[in-house]
Amino acid sequence: MKYRYATILFLLTLFFCSCATPGTTHSPSASATAVPIMTLRGLAQSHNMLVGTAVNVEALGNDKTYADILGKQFNVVTPENVMKFDAIEPQQGVYDFTKGDALVAFAQAHHMQVRGHNFVWYQSLPKWLINGNFTKAQLMAILKDHITTVMKHYKGKVTMWDVVNEAVDDNGKMIDSLWARGIGADYIAMAFRWAHEADPQAHLFYNDYGTEGMGTKSNVVYNLLQDLKSHGVPIYGVGLQTHLHITDPLQEQDVISNMRRLENLGLKVQITEMDVSLRTHEEIQSGQSMPHDQQSLQSALAKQATIYHDMLDACLQAACEAFVMWGFTDRYTWLNWNGFTDTHVDAPLIYDEIYQRKPAFNALVNTFRGVS
Ligand code: XIL
Repeated sequence: MKYRYATILFLLTLFFCSCATPGTTHSPSASATAVPIMTLRGLAQSHNMLVGTAVNVEALGNDKTYADILGKQFNVVTPENVMKFDAIEPQQGVYDFTKGDALVAFAQAHHMQVRGHNFVWYQSLPKWLINGNFTKAQLMAILKDHITTVMKHYKGKVTMWDVVNEAVDDNGKMIDSLWARGIGADYIAMAFRWAHEADPQAHLFYNDYGTEGMGTKSNVVYNLLQDLKSHGVPIYGVGLQTHLHITDPLQEQDVISNMRRLENLGLKVQITEMDVSLRTHEEIQSGQSMPHDQQSLQSALAKQATIYHDMLDACLQAACEAFVMWGFTDRYTWLNWNGFTDTHVDAPLIYDEIYQRKPAFNALVNTFRGVS
């Protein structure tokens, strides 16, 4: 009898330990007495949510600390660049899956999902495509082949795709891209239909920046998505990139309202590329550095933490599916470049450049735990 109770207790302890840190890799010596580690992915899982980051695949290969934190803290990854058009189809009809495959292998080994990024964008296009002078029919064939080949390669492994990225400009006009010019406005619906044909199980997203709160651009995006849905275009969700600046915070309630109206269209919402620059947009453009004196830096980091809190809180309140950041360490942020030198100029992420957790990291933990 005593023995049976001990066995039940042991099994229950094992069950609760593994539930408390779902998906995290336990060392072989993990025992019933192991204390569950509080990780972002464990916390996100308790909200039935994904938490993730864009991945710099080069850093993943060279930097052990980067790989360790990535594997422990997140349950979804997005390739920062290696699945973009120019990287994956560098010559017409010639596909290079090497780097994408490396990321997928890492994700599988760490029980993470993968968000594919992206098929249709006006940037990161290969020269052969930009300079090809292709007819409408040729461009359609190129895009269909690209989407079909890549999706079939990653079928069952990459379960979410940003099919169309940034089709609308800052003023709410449709972006004058190679695709819009060459195919016409229908390129958006076509891309979603081809993607759905290639992998009917995959979740297909429209992804854009500056559409998190209410405003001209988010109204245009809302109307575009409503129109696509009303024509039966197989679109599953919308990605709100959420590239923000401490000087220009969003109203949390505004973001919640926008998320809810998108959900009322029957779409799922994800935050897909969050970072919070310590500089203004103009300072980034002109290559000006972030503040370096301790006092200004501390106050900037506190503002940054509040913005991370507000966006995750909005996400939780509006039941969005995922909270994904555009990197996790300032060491490799895409904003850490001023065009002139390679000095450290920005710090938009949740770990600093030597992997110390920043106030923004703690803000995310507290938000998940419901402590503000
Ligand atoms: C950026 C990458 O971070 C950079 O390394 C690259 O040079 C340019 O693209 N919106 C997007 C992302 O959808 O693909 C962009 O990524 C950042 C803005």
